Amino acid sequence: MAETINKDAIEPIQEETLESGIQHVNNPVLDLPQIVKKYLQKITGYVQKGNSYVFTDGSAAVEVKVVSDEIIRVRLAPHSQFLDDFSYAVPNPDQHVALYAFQEEEDTYSVSTNTVTCVINKEDFLLSFQDREGRVINRDHTPMHWEENPDFGGYYVYCTKVAEEQEAFYGVGDKPTHLNLRGKRMTNWNSDTYSFSFDQDPLYRSIPFYIGLNKGEAYGIFFDNTFKTYFDFAAEKQDQTSFWSEGGELQYYYIHGPHMMDVVKRYHSITGTHYLPPLWALGFHQCRWSYYPESKVYEIANGFRSRNIPCDAIYLDIDYMDGYRCFTWNKHYFPNPKKMIKALSDQGFKTVVIIDPGIKVDDNYWVFKEGKENKYFCRRGDDYFMEGHVWPGRCQFPDFTNPETREWWGGLFKGLVDVGVAGVWNDMNEPAVFGRGTFPNDVRHNYDGYRGSHRKAHNVYGMQMVRATYEGLKKLNHGKRPFTITRAAYAGTQRYSSVWTGDNVATWEHLRLGVLQLQRLSVSGMSFCGTDIGGFSGEPDGELFTRWIQFGVFSPFMRAHSAGDTREREPWSFGADLEAINRKFIELRYQFLPYIYSVFWEHAQYGFPILRPITMLEQAVDTNIPREEEFSFGDKVLTSPVVNPGQVSKKVYLPVGYWYHYWSNIVLKGGEEHEIATPMDEIPLFIKAGAVIPEYPVMQYVDLRQVEFLKLRVYYADVEVNSFIYEDHGDTFAYEQEIYLEKKIVLKGDKNSLTLNQTIDGLFTERYETYKLNFIGLPFKINRILVDNRIVEWKEEEGFPTIQVDKDFRNIIVE
Ligand code: GLC
Repeated sequence: MAETINKDAIEPIQEETLESGIQHVNNPVLDLPQIVKKYLQKITGYVQKGNSYVFTDGSAAVEVKVVSDEIIRVRLAPHSQFLDDFSYAVPNPDQHVALYAFQEEEDTYSVSTNTVTCVINKEDFLLSFQDREGRVINRDHTPMHWEENPDFGGYYVYCTKVAEEQEAFYGVGDKPTHLNLRGKRMTNWNSDTYSFSFDQDPLYRSIPFYIGLNKGEAYGIFFDNTFKTYFDFAAEKQDQTSFWSEGGELQYYYIHGPHMMDVVKRYHSITGTHYLPPLWALGFHQCRWSYYPESKVYEIANGFRSRNIPCDAIYLDIDYMDGYRCFTWNKHYFPNPKKMIKALSDQGFKTVVIIDPGIKVDDNYWVFKEGKENKYFCRRGDDYFMEGHVWPGRCQFPDFTNPETREWWGGLFKGLVDVGVAGVWNDMNEPAVFGRGTFPNDVRHNYDGYRGSHRKAHNVYGMQMVRATYEGLKKLNHGKRPFTITRAAYAGTQRYSSVWTGDNVATWEHLRLGVLQLQRLSVSGMSFCGTDIGGFSGEPDGELFTRWIQFGVFSPFMRAHSAGDTREREPWSFGADLEAINRKFIELRYQFLPYIYSVFWEHAQYGFPILRPITMLEQAVDTNIPREEEFSFGDKVLTSPVVNPGQVSKKVYLPVGYWYHYWSNIVLKGGEEHEIATPMDEIPLFIKAGAVIPEYPVMQYVDLRQVEFLKLRVYYADVEVNSFIYEDHGDTFAYEQEIYLEKKIVLKGDKNSLTLNQTIDGLFTERYETYKLNFIGLPFKINRILVDNRIVEWKEEEGFPTIQVDKDFRNIIVE
């Protein structure tokens, strides 16, 4: 029965009962509110819920939440409706807080911890962050603001901070530009950018995290927003830094310093670090698009072994697949993958294969069929499948933001793991689509149950792909650590993967760009990073290739790679002289491995970035800000790669203190520049005085059975210096059960003596029994050497007084 309306029952609407904004004229279009930017107004009140305080201006609300003693999170809700508190970057926004307090004054509210205070002005809703001494470290220039987005719903959201006159800016991922971002405006939208150029933006990754450095004091801002985001570092207006987004929530973390190092460590405390990689992943890797057929792969493997050039991994690019169908083999090129991988493994090589997200539309292909049957593929706004062309032709794409899809994807690696594949390289996951770049905005995603269009999921698509890969491999690997690389990433991807900088070019400019990009990635939370050594597209000459290998030794991830249309490019491709130099440097990587591995441990365990720009080492020295090529690897080794052709020497600045020139062991005073010779077989390389550097013998691949004793290079200093050595199985997760050793060696020198004290933590047992110590730079003549109170003999080896001692020594005195 149709409803009837009793006209008499309808009351005429009274003007005064109308809520503001409700339409009551005949032509509703006339009176529509205009879309303008809206700003927070005067604060009218607040409510507290535990460590979270919500302030309101009567319409909009701002939450100020104490995350840890040094981190405060701010969120804006334009109509007081906060969005779901879910983040792919920050798995847990509740850390340990020792103490927090709230105070109301006449003009302000303040939320404080032991170290930081967030002050909120009542009148204009401006926020500022202060240290314990009340110094303002960071403050709003303009109240937070927003603008309605009529096309998609939600808001464009904006935050504008004061840019101090001298302030420098660091971070934001892989931007191929100067280290200091002041004066730049940039976008975060993961993009496939083949042969990118200096200053090009955006590239493959979105890491909306920056560090501000003003008069020697640093802080960080992490804008956790996965939509297309923008940063303007005093570019449009010299006194303002802004960040904004096309959607989502204005949500950011203020991360207190004052040291840049603390800021990065604290950023890692909320977004995670890279787990300890398998040791072989830190060796030299050889890649090319593509090594095939099988005989070519053997030829490359033999090329390394017959020339005694160390190498741990060979990569198979897309041509190993059957018609570029992921998880299949081209049986013509690779008739028996298991046999080949076993043969490579017998020679000490790991096999790493590429995987792309595009799944060929082919009803006879099991992966496509499974994905289709289980509805794992992305769909458009109107429910059509998201289709696009990539290597295999017409493809559909898994929705990696769906936990079930990730679970399925992880399991697909079973076949590859069963035949012995040791690592997976995740490519094209921006996602890249030929012709149109990426997915259209209307593609829908599960977003772990929180739903979203591609506008929201685009920047995390690659991250969720490599997460699925990592989690799958971890399950399939029988307790062995997975190894993954990804091209696209969002903040937090470091929990699942290493990264490389994508399709660079074989030019000197790109070598220099790599030096900048890896430092930037490292301070942006992506420490396990590398470039395509030699340059992906174009042809390097031998000199460029060798200089790139030299930089590669001090790149956390060391892999040579080249595009398919280039000439063959292995370390022996440029004549005998350069081959010898390439060998020498790849050997150096293996000699440094125990040091490198210990630096990775410091990263995994404590969140120290692996590469550290000069500014990070000496942030109070303003004249360091323009220095871009010197950086340290960990805290004991400093380099400045050669990035120009024909360069015979290079000016290198060394931080305050003393540094040993690695090749001559001459001691140089820091706090000033030095002119360092750069013959083809040397790069500027320095060891911090007082360091104890563990060294492996040269090996052709990581094989701890070859370590008969651990060499320790002891660099004398007349101060006290701590060095750490980390050791474990090298490829299992037993370290999570304390099956590792963390050794601390404290060196203390004076005019006539040198003392070393060792303490050891953990439950692992090394294979070797002794250390061999080289004493470098002793300024006195040795009278005697005491090891745990017993006099021992020493001899000269390699020009240094040398002793061989029990690995468990407690105390050594050289006098
Ligand atoms: C992309 C990758 C590159 C790879 C190629 C073929 O361009 O960035 O590294 O070799 O695809 O798979």
